This record gives sequence, C-alpha cells and structure tokens, in this order.
Amino acid sequence: MRRHVGKVQDLPSGSRKIVPLGGRSGIGVFNVNGKFHAVKNVCPHQGGPLCQGRLRPHVRSSGPYHVTWEREGEILKCPWHNWEFELKTGRALYDPRLRVRTYRVTVEGDDVYLHLA
Ligand code: FES
Repeated sequence: MRRHVGKVQDLPSGSRKIVPLGGRSGIGVFNVNGKFHAVKNVCPHQGGPLCQGRLRPHVRSSGPYHVTWEREGEILKCPWHNWEFELKTGRALYDPRLRVRTYRVTVEGDDVYLHLA
C-alpha cells in the first residue's frame, strides 16, 4: 500500500513533511540532498516526537581537537533527549541494535509516494 505525500517541488532538499499515517504520531518524510527517507514519528527511547528533531551531521572524533562532520543532514536528533538516528537505516548512533522504523519512499514523475508495506 502506498500513499501520495506531495509534489517533489513542495518537498525541497532540507525539508520534511509529517504525514498523518502509521498511528497517532504519523510518519516523517525527509528530503536530504535530493534523496527521500521516511521514519516513524515515535522515538524508540521514550516515545518522543522524533521527526520534529533537528537534522545534523554525524560528528566524529579521533581524539582531542580532531573533530569531523560527515553526512550533513542525515542524522535525526530526537528533541526530547537528543538520541540520534540515521535517517537512511533508522539505527541509533549510540546503539545500532536500537532503531526506529523506516519506510520506503519513491518518486514517480513529480510525485512522492510513501510505501507502508
Ligand atoms: S524520547 Fe527520544 S531520546 Fe528520549
């Protein structure tokens, strides 16, 4: 089953839309550098509104004063307690065994579709 999310031009890079599906909280559809991702809008930690969080880079450190920023905008940070998740896989950065549910998103012509099964 799929649901029409909107037109590609209405979801420019860096934007998101929370679609009222998949339970009370909905599903967040994100455009990150032209690639679409979707995750359930419920944080697996304590149920926070995950898709209202900030999009961040993956910050890595190889030691004091050596910090790099990778994958700008691909990490979703929960607004409640700052747990971070990869939008692409749903995996938590703190513990890859924890994950938020992800959904497939396709673009057909100018239309964006969210696949629920
Ligand atoms: S509810 Fe999301 S980090 Fe706690």
